Amino acid sequence: MGSVIIGSGRSLPKRTVTNDELGAIVDTSDEWIVPRTGIRTRQIATEETCTDLGAEAALRALGQAAGGWQREEGAIDPATLDMIICPTLTADTHFPSQAARIRERIGAENAVCYDMSCACSGCVYGISTADLMLAGSAFDRAGAEAAGRVPRRNVVRRVLVVAAERLSRLVDWDDRATCILFGDGAGAVVLEWRDGEDGVLSSYMENTDDTARTLWCDSAFCARETPFAAEGEGAAEREGLDPYMRMAGQAVFKFATAAMMRCTEEALERAGLSVEDVTLFTPHQANERIIRYAAKKMDLPMERFQLIIDHVGNVSGASALIALNEALCDGKITQGDIACMTAFGGGLTAGSCVIRI
Ligand code: UT7
Repeated sequence: MGSVIIGSGRSLPKRTVTNDELGAIVDTSDEWIVPRTGIRTRQIATEETCTDLGAEAALRALGQAAGGWQREEGAIDPATLDMIICPTLTADTHFPSQAARIRERIGAENAVCYDMSCACSGCVYGISTADLMLAGSAFDRAGAEAAGRVPRRNVVRRVLVVAAERLSRLVDWDDRATCILFGDGAGAVVLEWRDGEDGVLSSYMENTDDTARTLWCDSAFCARETPFAAEGEGAAEREGLDPYMRMAGQAVFKFATAAMMRCTEEALERAGLSVEDVTLFTPHQANERIIRYAAKKMDLPMERFQLIIDHVGNVSGASALIALNEALCDGKITQGDIACMTAFGGGLTAGSCVIRI
């Protein structure tokens, strides 16, 4: 029994931005960006909102729009979704949640919705949390059935995890250390609890204090004052507020490479599997060098890793879901195969899940 992926989708904005275009804005070049990151182009949302991107990825995952992947033939009815979880750093509104905005757009009239703020680990935190919800609900329902009473908690049989990100709105386009890295987009999976099938085999999530502020973005609303503050009160908080995301690249790189190995090993151990059992690794795409490092450490060829960073950049929490969807749509993994999704990011968050497709 387990949480089975029954649909997967992705959505990318239509505007492609090349490294040469970035070279016209900041002091950088294709010659610097490609060997340091693996990124050649990224898609930047010029008119698409997170709601647009998230809803399109969701409809594709449900088979309500063309271009997605479904486990079985036929579209999935959005009204059968019990929950929508949206990992995002850039919700279009503080509230309603981004998940609720997507619910409204796709007609998921029975879904309970909420967002998650866990940066680039959104894909893993989203799937892991959905799996916990599905397993918890299955346990609750089994108890209710045995005792002949109603379940004590919300019944959760189907969950949509849809990560939608527009980091182009958080980056400082004058900061060459970050603006070259990120792209916009969304990725989605529909998970269903099935008694007779394997799905998510294991998951692992962790947090590390970011006392050195290596990956950081202040909330813009903190700059506002209330009418109740005495002269100078709250000034210390407002003083250093920065409206853009900042990253200490080398420190994060160090954290990322270690987290990639630690989390992958932990999730595989929980699943009782080894790296050889994994058909395809679909990791967060922060830097091609991080993925190459992991491949070398695991003594595996790069063919065992899904690489999409060259054409999408770092799409934060959506990256690994987009990678998984590309692999499914291209037939690189298929039913029965095992995927391993590892991610790391602001928080500092990190985690990994092992999934039987
Ligand atoms: O998804 C969230 C997690 N994020 C990550 O995992 C990202 C991890 N970090 C990285 O991927 C890398 O640290 C970067 C790609 C961000 C930067 O690569 P790096 O090899 O660590 O470069 P660096 O920061 O050490 O900078 C080296 C030099 C510096 O110049 P000096 O001081 O040596 O003269 C930078 O000013 O490269 C310069 N530089 C650039 N030059 C041209 C930094 N960014 C650029 C740029 N173009 N875009």
